[in-house]
Amino acid sequence: MAPRNPFRPSFGITPTVVVGRELVTMNVGLALLEGPGSPYGFTLVSGPRGAGKTVLLNLLEEARYRGWTVLRVTSSHDMVDDLVATDIPALLRDITGKKTRRIVTGGSVAGIGSVTTQAESAFPVRESLRTLLHSLVTTLDDRDSGLFITVDEIHAARPADLHRLTDAIQNLVRDGLPVAMSVAGLPYEISALLDHPGTTFLRRACAV
Ligand SMILES: Nc1ncnc2c1ncn2[C@@H]1O[C@H](COP(=O)(O)OP(=O)(O)O)[C@@H](O)[C@H]1O
Ligand SMILES: [Mg+2]
Repeated sequence: MAPRNPFRPSFGITPTVVVGRELVTMNVGLALLEGPGSPYGFTLVSGPRGAGKTVLLNLLEEARYRGWTVLRVTSSHDMVDDLVATDIPALLRDITGKKTRRIVTGGSVAGIGSVTTQAESAFPVRESLRTLLHSLVTTLDDRDSGLFITVDEIHAARPADLHRLTDAIQNLVRDGLPVAMSVAGLPYEISALLDHPGTTFLRRACAV
């Protein structure tokens, strides 16, 4: 077999030889072992195009080998809709093995027999990014796992969507739940993200 070219020019594909990323991958790996509160749980990967941001995110996603579940968020115009309608429900289904959710419609009273009534929820809940992410991370926490979120090319997402995502994550951080995140973007995009009041927890994130 011909030797593989170690300098694969295609962007975003992990090269056969990755240089200079040992320290950050080790620190993020340790942060996942330590759990909530560890500074490297949140990393901001900023740099110009071609600096190796996507390759680094790919490496960090190896968190899945430490038992963490990876949610790769694709920055797009429909980012939050995709997460709420597809990505998070699909992960929940895979983790729990549940394909349907039964709505309670009846009950059984001992001695009398089975009584079935059509019950309608008095307070129907429409799932949001916040509630779905909370369900996902508590489900993982129950299984001694956690959620590692990666967001690449944040310029492709609407700022309002990014803020909804970071807001939902901040909510998980406040509850001490096992969530970690790495965000990659051009330097001015990363600083614009940090300027938003809903991203205060990210200001303590490690910049790499
Ligand atoms: N740590 C690294 N060691 C060696 N080559 C790298 C490294 N990081 C990136 N590269 C090379 O640079 C190219 C561009 O990296 P990429 O992650 O796509 O940059 P960015 O996402 O910042 O635009 C990759 O395809 C890869 O060949
Ligand atoms: Mg990239």
